[in-house]
Amino acid sequence: MHPLPCFWLKIGILLFLAGKGLHLKCEICSDMKHDCAGRAYTCLPIFDSCVTIQSEKFPAFTLNKPYHAKGKRAVTKKCIGSSLCREGLSVVNLGRRGIIATKLSCCEEEDCRMPVLPLPPINTTSNGKACPVCLSFSSTSCRSEGMVYCMGDQHYCLFIDGIASAEDSGTFATIGDPIITSYIAVRGCANQAFCDTFHEGAVHLASLTVIGSGHCELATARDAAARGHYGCCCPVLAGLLLLKVLACFLPATKI
Ligand SMILES: *[C@@H]1O[C@H](CO)[C@@H](O)[C@H](O)[C@H]1NC(C)=O
Repeated sequence: MHPLPCFWLKIGILLFLAGKGLHLKCEICSDMKHDCAGRAYTCLPIFDSCVTIQSEKFPAFTLNKPYHAKGKRAVTKKCIGSSLCREGLSVVNLGRRGIIATKLSCCEEEDCRMPVLPLPPINTTSNGKACPVCLSFSSTSCRSEGMVYCMGDQHYCLFIDGIASAEDSGTFATIGDPIITSYIAVRGCANQAFCDTFHEGAVHLASLTVIGSGHCELATARDAAARGHYGCCCPVLAGLLLLKVLACFLPATKI
């Protein structure tokens, strides 16, 4: 949007809100670290909660071996709608692209600042199931690149096609800023916490918000699942901007 209309839109909404007295403020920041600190900003009226989104992306695991390496961390603090505040540890396993663990912590008081605790460890014990795996940022579909073995509580295969967005703090401060978006298609193993949040509509995958269609289905045993058809990955033509944002997170993404 042109800066001038954005400016007036901002002013208009601010005046509207001043009249309504709605002004939850949240700490806003993001970093590729365990924690971050920032100033408090006024949330847009649709957002009634402050959230800390912690994520950790681990490299591909060796099945059944205890895992000690640290993953790549990221943290984002922003405004969110409280209906999206499911606080379980969601886990998505993308095979050789690694495992992404994401945890939301919400609070609804003015500028509430919660301590950021470490994420619990990932269970790397095979659970005997397998899912088709692929990831694309260039289209809303991707062809399976093979199977990934599910671990721990990853009892579901996930199939999501939609739009991913990053870097939107949900505040007045960022109205008019471009929101970085891309198509996304993801297949892999997932746990119940991830599938529950996905059924709510939007879902968080690391620092991305994904809005789309798809489903989770109970994963089948590895041998039965291994009979599927596997194509190769589509060439990536778009979504490069988002990939820059993601570069630290999904380094194995083939371009
Ligand atoms: C890890 O996952 C395996 C396979 O699902 C399960 O049997 C085991 O109880 C889990 N361990 C922990 C500590 O949760």
